Amino acid sequence: MISLDKIHKLGKDTESAVDEVMSNAYSPDSVKRSPLFTAMKAAKLLGISRPSLNKILSDNPYIEVTPQTSKNGSPSAPKFTLEQIQFIRELLLGHSINEIQNVNIEEFKKNKNHMQLKIPRNLDETRPFIISIANLKGGSTKSTVTILLSQFLAMKGYKVLTIDSDPQHTTTDYLGFIPAEGHPYDYTEENTLLNLYQNKQPLRPLKSYWENIDVVPTEISGYNAEFILPVHQFQEEGNFFALLDYALNHKEEEWELSALTDSNCPAYNPDNYDIVLIDTPPSYSYSSVNALFASDALVVPVPPEMPDIAATGVFFNNLFEILSQFQKFTGDTKSYEFISTIGTKMSQKESNRESFKLIRDIYGSNCIATPLFESKAIEVASKNMQSLYELQSYNNVNRNTVNSAMQNVDEVFDEVESLVLEAIDKQKNLELEA
Ligand SMILES: Nc1ncnc2c1ncn2[C@@H]1O[C@H](COP(=O)(O)OP(=O)(O)OP(=O)(O)O)[C@@H](O)[C@H]1O
Ligand SMILES: [Mg+2]
Repeated sequence: MISLDKIHKLGKDTESAVDEVMSNAYSPDSVKRSPLFTAMKAAKLLGISRPSLNKILSDNPYIEVTPQTSKNGSPSAPKFTLEQIQFIRELLLGHSINEIQNVNIEEFKKNKNHMQLKIPRNLDETRPFIISIANLKGGSTKSTVTILLSQFLAMKGYKVLTIDSDPQHTTTDYLGFIPAEGHPYDYTEENTLLNLYQNKQPLRPLKSYWENIDVVPTEISGYNAEFILPVHQFQEEGNFFALLDYALNHKEEEWELSALTDSNCPAYNPDNYDIVLIDTPPSYSYSSVNALFASDALVVPVPPEMPDIAATGVFFNNLFEILSQFQKFTGDTKSYEFISTIGTKMSQKESNRESFKLIRDIYGSNCIATPLFESKAIEVASKNMQSLYELQSYNNVNRNTVNSAMQNVDEVFDEVESLVLEAIDKQKNLELEA
């Protein structure tokens, strides 16, 4: 017989096992840190050659790099933090570019990731490009794609806001936020989406341990939005589905929805970000509909099993129904700059290859050409509360497995980045014509 005490113990035992994994992942002080990069990788992220990077370092000795020591205690090649890479990027982007002698910056200038990744908000203001990562099927890798895509874009220098709109809080956890008072990455309800949905207050994103990634975290209480949003709709004329859209398109001083309260935490400002990524729950809910309505584009991960593909069909059918209803209700039409499926968790198995072919046949140009392969490296990273990009030690996975997984993920996201840049170019041209 299972007594109440036993049930209580099951909960407590789980908590302590998870705590142990977390404290290993976040060691030595329960705080996550972003990875270090070799000079070769840093030069690649900056879009310059190794000799150019060396020249920048020798001409600007105040630029810090992180000294390393090898196992035998002798000094080895220094590594770069994301902050140091971003510092050099800003140096290259800024006025001081002329002061950097003899550096071949042509490659850097050509590098597409230094284009302004913003879309016009009105005549002289811009706002970030907004993407929801969505599908109805649980476990279809929405959070994995959100976290990795956030980190991929951040490493390239984009200013990213990652919003966790799934009360299961996977993305919040992996991005290092813990609702524990005193923790450096603590958060409270005013930082979560619930504050927007419940109190109609601006978002208050937090800086994460990854340079260039801010986060709107969530916690399990995020489910309350499902009770609160319909009540708002009932009590007052309001578009319950458009709150997040409003929040992402307005500065604090432009808010008309609520009496603003004081906070030590700065409110969201559309000028601060190039791109917003929203992780959504595996269901249609009032909050996920807010995310879908606020988005310029959708990324839809589709694993190779038939139930996943079938759920993707239901996702699109429901989206059609919901957006058609909006259209009737508001008279406005909603469209997306792009919708792109990604075949995920693909292996070289014959059956998976057939599934990917089926996905390509169904979605054609609405499918990223490269599948995201199932990888032991992603699995191991995830077990350690890390992302693939954070996997520094290769325990249980060999270096080639890690490198080929990273190459695969980069390839998939290069395609996503190109779609975003194309969409923004199109919008900018439309704005110019108007
Ligand atoms: N390419 C991959 N190779 C191996 N494992 C993967 C890969 N992508 C994701 N996973 C694993 O699949 C599991 C489910 O992924 P994830 O949590 O991202 O799905 P989800 O769609 O966000 O789930 P939910 O619907 O519950 O929010 C995780 O354990 C994750 O580590
Ligand atoms: Mg998830």
